[in-house]
Amino acid sequence: MLSIVVLISGSGSNLRALLEACDNPLFPAKILAVGSDKAAAGLSHAEEFGVPAFVVEPELFDSREQWSQVLLRNVQYHNPDLVILAGFMKVLPEGFVSALSPKLINMHPSLLPAFPGAHAVRDALSAGESTTGATVHIVDSGVDTGPVLAQREIAIAPGIAESGLHEQIKTIERSLIVEVVSQIAEGKLNLSERAN
Ligand code: GAR
Repeated sequence: MLSIVVLISGSGSNLRALLEACDNPLFPAKILAVGSDKAAAGLSHAEEFGVPAFVVEPELFDSREQWSQVLLRNVQYHNPDLVILAGFMKVLPEGFVSALSPKLINMHPSLLPAFPGAHAVRDALSAGESTTGATVHIVDSGVDTGPVLAQREIAIAPGIAESGLHEQIKTIERSLIVEVVSQIAEGKLNLSERAN
């Protein structure tokens, strides 16, 4: 059984998809805890499923390094096999990443390497792309640069707004992350091999 800690910053719809999948006794993974950098709305999903949650706010620390070390200690307290950034919107310092990588994966709403960063959906629209998609990748020391584990593409409907497109992407992200977790748990996707 693959054990997971999920980190979020927002509405947590991808977290919820994982909680629902893990609620099925036949699914080969379980969520040990959910963490956030703020009082995110998505923490309510953890509460609903009886999963412990922790919040470590950067504003309470003198530096990003101190903040991330406390966040790391909270994650490591649960001793997970895998940590998933599911809409976690803070860039994590090198020390945090190297302590967990390659067992640290991120979800991103574009077909990386296209449109890294915090405004991927807006950037794809501004660039006039006809397709975009979702990526799950191993986190490395760069921003959205680590080895890609899985991607799914969708067409961009002419005239669609950023929020509508993001909702469409999130729909495919939810099934993609559940699929990736299942593949990791079943040994079909080896993170150490993919990291090299
Ligand atoms: C998802 O689209 C995820 O890919 C994105 O935040 C959203 C979270 O949605 N992550 C990033 O943009 C990271 N750079 P959710 O809170 O509903 O799961």
